[in-house]
Amino acid sequence: MSARLDIHQGDITRLAVDAIVNAANESLLGGGGVDGAIHLAAGPGLLEECRKLGGCPTGSAKSTKGYGLPAKWVIHTVGPVWQGGLAGEEALLASCYRRTLEEAGRLKARHIAFPGISTGVYRFPLERAARIAVATVTAELAKYPDLERVIFATFDDHATALYRALIPSRAG
Ligand code: APR
Repeated sequence: MSARLDIHQGDITRLAVDAIVNAANESLLGGGGVDGAIHLAAGPGLLEECRKLGGCPTGSAKSTKGYGLPAKWVIHTVGPVWQGGLAGEEALLASCYRRTLEEAGRLKARHIAFPGISTGVYRFPLERAARIAVATVTAELAKYPDLERVIFATFDDHATALYRALIPSRAG
Protein backbone atom coordinates (compact mmCIF):
# COMPACT_ATOMS: atom_id res chain seq x y z
CA MET A 1 0.00 0.00 0.00
CA SER A 2 1.74 3.19 -1.08
CA ALA A 3 1.68 6.44 0.86
CA ARG A 4 -1.14 8.94 0.81
CA LEU A 5 -0.45 12.25 -0.96
CA ASP A 6 -1.81 15.29 0.88
CA ILE A 7 -1.69 19.06 0.54
CA HIS A 8 -1.29 21.43 3.47
CA GLN A 9 -1.27 25.20 2.97
CA GLY A 10 0.81 26.89 5.66
CA ASP A 11 4.21 27.23 7.28
CA ILE A 12 6.11 23.96 6.82
CA THR A 13 8.17 24.64 9.98
CA ARG A 14 5.09 24.00 12.11
CA LEU A 15 4.38 20.51 10.76
CA ALA A 16 4.91 17.74 13.31
CA VAL A 17 5.97 15.16 10.74
CA ASP A 18 9.00 12.85 10.82
CA ALA A 19 10.81 14.94 8.19
CA ILE A 20 10.36 18.30 6.54
CA VAL A 21 12.26 19.11 3.37
CA ASN A 22 14.32 22.28 3.04
CA ALA A 23 14.78 24.12 -0.26
CA ALA A 24 18.43 24.89 0.42
CA ASN A 25 21.40 26.15 -1.59
CA GLU A 26 24.61 24.22 -2.27
CA SER A 27 26.38 25.69 0.77
CA LEU A 28 23.68 24.36 3.17
CA LEU A 29 24.52 27.40 5.30
CA GLY A 30 21.03 28.91 5.26
CA GLY A 31 19.39 31.68 3.29
CA GLY A 32 15.98 33.29 2.90
CA GLY A 33 12.61 31.80 2.01
CA VAL A 34 11.80 28.42 3.45
CA ASP A 35 15.52 27.85 4.19
CA GLY A 36 15.53 30.93 6.41
CA ALA A 37 12.28 29.94 8.11
CA ILE A 38 13.54 26.43 8.87
CA HIS A 39 16.84 27.65 10.32
CA LEU A 40 15.04 30.27 12.40
CA ALA A 41 12.61 27.74 13.83
CA ALA A 42 15.22 25.00 14.33
CA GLY A 43 17.76 27.22 16.09
CA PRO A 44 21.57 27.36 15.89
CA GLY A 45 22.11 23.61 16.26
CA LEU A 46 20.86 23.10 12.71
CA LEU A 47 23.50 25.37 11.20
CA GLU A 48 26.19 23.76 13.33
CA GLU A 49 25.29 20.34 11.93
CA CYS A 50 24.96 21.72 8.38
CA ARG A 51 28.47 23.16 8.59
CA LYS A 52 29.82 19.60 8.97
CA LEU A 53 28.06 18.32 5.83
CA GLY A 54 30.37 20.04 3.34
CA GLY A 55 27.56 21.35 1.16
CA CYS A 56 25.21 19.52 -1.20
CA PRO A 57 25.20 19.44 -5.01
CA THR A 58 22.11 20.61 -6.91
CA GLY A 59 19.69 17.69 -7.31
CA SER A 60 20.98 15.89 -4.26
CA ALA A 61 19.81 15.70 -0.62
CA LYS A 62 21.34 15.40 2.86
CA SER A 63 19.55 15.08 6.21
CA THR A 64 20.08 16.53 9.66
CA LYS A 65 18.20 16.43 12.94
CA GLY A 66 15.29 18.85 13.37
CA TYR A 67 16.51 20.53 16.60
CA GLY A 68 13.87 23.08 17.72
CA LEU A 69 11.44 22.08 14.96
CA PRO A 70 8.47 19.79 15.67
CA ALA A 71 9.86 17.58 12.85
CA LYS A 72 12.42 14.96 13.83
CA TRP A 73 14.60 15.51 10.76
CA VAL A 74 15.23 18.06 8.04
CA ILE A 75 16.11 16.72 4.61
CA HIS A 76 17.98 19.48 2.77
CA THR A 77 17.79 19.37 -1.01
CA VAL A 78 19.12 21.85 -3.54
CA GLY A 79 16.87 22.65 -6.44
CA PRO A 80 17.97 24.05 -9.80
CA VAL A 81 17.81 27.74 -10.60
CA TRP A 82 15.41 28.16 -13.53
CA GLN A 83 17.38 29.24 -16.65
CA GLY A 84 14.62 28.91 -19.25
CA GLY A 85 14.28 25.12 -19.24
CA LEU A 86 17.09 24.08 -21.57
CA ALA A 87 19.76 23.51 -18.94
CA GLY A 88 18.41 20.26 -17.49
CA GLU A 89 16.39 22.02 -14.79
CA GLU A 90 13.45 19.60 -14.99
CA ALA A 91 15.66 16.54 -14.54
CA LEU A 92 17.49 18.19 -11.65
CA LEU A 93 14.21 19.05 -9.92
CA ALA A 94 12.96 15.47 -10.31
CA SER A 95 16.27 14.33 -8.84
CA CYS A 96 15.63 16.49 -5.75
CA TYR A 97 12.38 14.63 -5.07
CA ARG A 98 13.92 11.21 -5.79
CA ARG A 99 17.02 11.77 -3.65
CA THR A 100 14.92 13.24 -0.83
CA LEU A 101 12.68 10.15 -0.83
CA GLU A 102 15.79 7.95 -0.80
CA GLU A 103 16.97 9.83 2.29
CA ALA A 104 13.53 9.54 3.89
CA GLY A 105 13.62 5.80 3.20
CA ARG A 106 17.03 5.51 4.85
CA LEU A 107 15.65 7.35 7.91
CA LYS A 108 12.52 5.15 7.81
CA ALA A 109 10.43 8.33 7.95
CA ARG A 110 6.69 7.61 8.03
CA HIS A 111 5.57 11.08 6.94
CA ILE A 112 7.39 13.80 5.07
CA ALA A 113 6.49 17.33 3.94
CA PHE A 114 7.89 19.02 0.83
CA PRO A 115 7.83 22.75 0.10
CA GLY A 116 7.76 23.80 -3.55
CA ILE A 117 11.44 23.25 -4.27
CA SER A 118 12.93 25.92 -6.59
CA THR A 119 9.61 27.77 -7.04
CA GLY A 120 10.63 30.88 -5.07
CA VAL A 121 14.00 32.62 -5.40
CA TYR A 122 15.06 29.99 -7.96
CA ARG A 123 12.13 31.02 -10.18
CA PHE A 124 11.14 27.56 -11.44
CA PRO A 125 7.63 27.93 -13.01
CA LEU A 126 5.18 26.77 -10.36
CA GLU A 127 2.91 24.61 -12.54
CA ARG A 128 5.81 22.72 -14.14
CA ALA A 129 7.40 22.24 -10.73
CA ALA A 130 4.19 20.94 -9.15
CA ARG A 131 3.72 18.46 -12.02
CA ILE A 132 7.29 17.20 -11.64
CA ALA A 133 6.90 16.96 -7.86
CA VAL A 134 3.68 14.91 -7.96
CA ALA A 135 4.77 12.71 -10.87
CA THR A 136 8.18 11.93 -9.36
CA VAL A 137 6.84 11.22 -5.86
CA THR A 138 4.05 9.04 -7.28
CA ALA A 139 6.51 7.06 -9.40
CA GLU A 140 8.87 6.44 -6.48
CA LEU A 141 6.41 5.66 -3.67
CA ALA A 142 6.31 1.89 -4.12
CA LYS A 143 10.00 1.75 -3.14
CA TYR A 144 9.29 3.12 0.35
CA PRO A 145 6.88 0.86 2.27
CA ASP A 146 7.55 2.71 5.56
CA LEU A 147 6.33 5.97 4.07
CA GLU A 148 2.67 6.45 4.95
CA ARG A 149 2.09 10.08 4.00
CA VAL A 150 3.66 12.66 1.71
CA ILE A 151 2.50 16.23 2.27
CA PHE A 152 2.98 18.99 -0.28
CA ALA A 153 3.23 22.09 1.90
CA THR A 154 1.98 24.97 -0.20
CA PHE A 155 2.37 28.57 0.86
CA ASP A 156 -0.35 30.34 -1.12
CA ASP A 157 -3.75 29.70 -2.72
CA HIS A 158 -2.34 29.49 -6.24
CA ALA A 159 0.09 26.72 -5.35
CA THR A 160 -2.64 24.90 -3.42
CA ALA A 161 -4.97 24.99 -6.42
CA LEU A 162 -2.23 23.64 -8.69
CA TYR A 163 -1.48 20.70 -6.40
CA ARG A 164 -5.23 20.02 -5.88
CA ALA A 165 -5.61 19.71 -9.65
CA LEU A 166 -2.77 17.16 -9.75
CA ILE A 167 -3.74 15.01 -6.78
CA PRO A 168 -7.09 13.22 -7.06
CA SER A 169 -8.94 13.64 -3.76
CA ARG A 170 -9.62 10.32 -2.03
CA ALA A 171 -13.21 9.18 -2.22
CA GLY A 172 -14.99 9.03 1.16
N1 APR B 1 6.59 27.10 4.50
C1 APR B 1 6.25 26.53 3.32
N2 APR B 1 6.62 27.02 2.13
C2 APR B 1 7.36 28.17 2.14
C3 APR B 1 7.76 28.82 3.33
C4 APR B 1 7.33 28.23 4.55
N3 APR B 1 7.66 28.77 5.73
N4 APR B 1 8.49 29.94 2.99
C5 APR B 1 8.54 29.96 1.65
N5 APR B 1 7.85 28.92 1.13
C6 APR B 1 7.64 28.56 -0.28
C7 APR B 1 7.77 29.68 -1.28
O1 APR B 1 6.52 30.34 -1.43
C8 APR B 1 8.13 28.89 -2.54
O2 APR B 1 6.94 28.41 -3.16
O3 APR B 1 8.70 27.67 -0.60
C9 APR B 1 8.90 27.69 -2.01
C10 APR B 1 10.41 27.71 -2.27
O4 APR B 1 10.85 29.04 -2.27
P1 APR B 1 12.32 29.44 -1.70
O5 APR B 1 12.32 29.28 -0.24
O6 APR B 1 12.64 30.77 -2.29
O7 APR B 1 13.29 28.31 -2.30
P2 APR B 1 13.91 28.14 -3.75
O8 APR B 1 13.10 28.79 -4.81
O9 APR B 1 14.20 26.67 -3.85
O10 APR B 1 15.28 28.97 -3.65
C11 APR B 1 16.30 28.45 -2.83
O11 APR B 1 16.53 30.52 -1.69
O12 APR B 1 16.25 30.84 0.54
C12 APR B 1 17.19 30.65 -0.43
O13 APR B 1 18.98 29.50 0.69
C13 APR B 1 17.94 29.35 -0.25
O14 APR B 1 19.53 29.91 -1.93
C14 APR B 1 18.40 29.11 -1.66
C15 APR B 1 17.23 29.58 -2.50
